[in-house]
Amino acid sequence: MIEIHNIHKTFNGNKVLDGISGNFESGKMNMLLGASGTGKSVLLKCIVGLVKPDIGSITYDGRIFANNKLDIKQEIRRKIGMLFQGSALFDSMTVNENVEFPLKMLTDMDRQERQERVEFCLKRVGLEKAGNKMPSELSGGMKKRVGIARAIAPHCTYLFCDEPNSGLDPLTAITIDELIKEITEEYNITTIVVTHDMNSVLEYGDNVMFLYKGKKLWEGHSSTIMDTHVKELNDFIFSNRLMRDAKKVEEIAEEERQEEGQRQEDDKNRNR
Ligand SMILES: Nc1ncnc2c1ncn2[C@@H]1O[C@H](COP(=O)(O)OP(=O)(O)OP(=O)(O)O)[C@@H](O)[C@H]1O
Ligand SMILES: [Mg+2]
Repeated sequence: MIEIHNIHKTFNGNKVLDGISGNFESGKMNMLLGASGTGKSVLLKCIVGLVKPDIGSITYDGRIFANNKLDIKQEIRRKIGMLFQGSALFDSMTVNENVEFPLKMLTDMDRQERQERVEFCLKRVGLEKAGNKMPSELSGGMKKRVGIARAIAPHCTYLFCDEPNSGLDPLTAITIDELIKEITEEYNITTIVVTHDMNSVLEYGDNVMFLYKGKKLWEGHSSTIMDTHVKELNDFIFSNRLMRDAKKVEEIAEEERQEEGQRQEDDKNRNR
């Protein structure tokens, strides 16, 4: 489990994170949801140690991460897999070399072990035949898969995905979400997914945190998100026409259920 407490971050007088706390459990799809510019990526970068928070604590399975000794930080870092916003593959390397890269950097595996691990990870994301391709030859969805294979290659315990399905068509987006969920559950990884995609949230969000202007305004399971009374979250969810229509259909169905219940009650009373 990752725990964050009271995280603050200001860039040149611009307060981006304003006291965010929360827990991210292992084996669950933890999601950070929010509009563009609201601080999701900065929070994720604070959690992985790419940005230093001004105030606040971060612990990985009880071990303090931020501001700790370098060797403890490095040990935790070795267990972190990261899928960056936009995949961030190395353009001049083949798919095999991209996935092998963190193994060379972070492990003492020999060449043979590295090759086997690369093969295993590419197979796990359904790309066993793409090892010799260059990133420029891949579709957007394939690039994300390679990014996921590279992230999990060093047996990660913690997986961070920044907008894993942005720029993908809805069907491919679902397969990427599904893959992340399967891997999270299979290896009991502590996964944090940053997104502004309500489809992903509704389908896969075990624990969703809604960020708004650097604050956490709501947290809960995705199944309860449609019933929220937080205005900013409601505005965010129902900014989309499809979601508004879905809500209307749900309200009509609820009214019909209540009317039917009342009818049955009346019938019972009449027959007494
Ligand atoms: N290194 C930095 N220096 C200065 N300002 C930064 C830096 N990184 C982020 N910011 C600012 O922090 C704010 C939040 O940025 P962030 O990238 O976290 O947004 P986001 O919620 O991830 O948005 P998006 O959905 O568009 O990716 C923005 O105003 C951004 O300009
Ligand atoms: Mg971002």
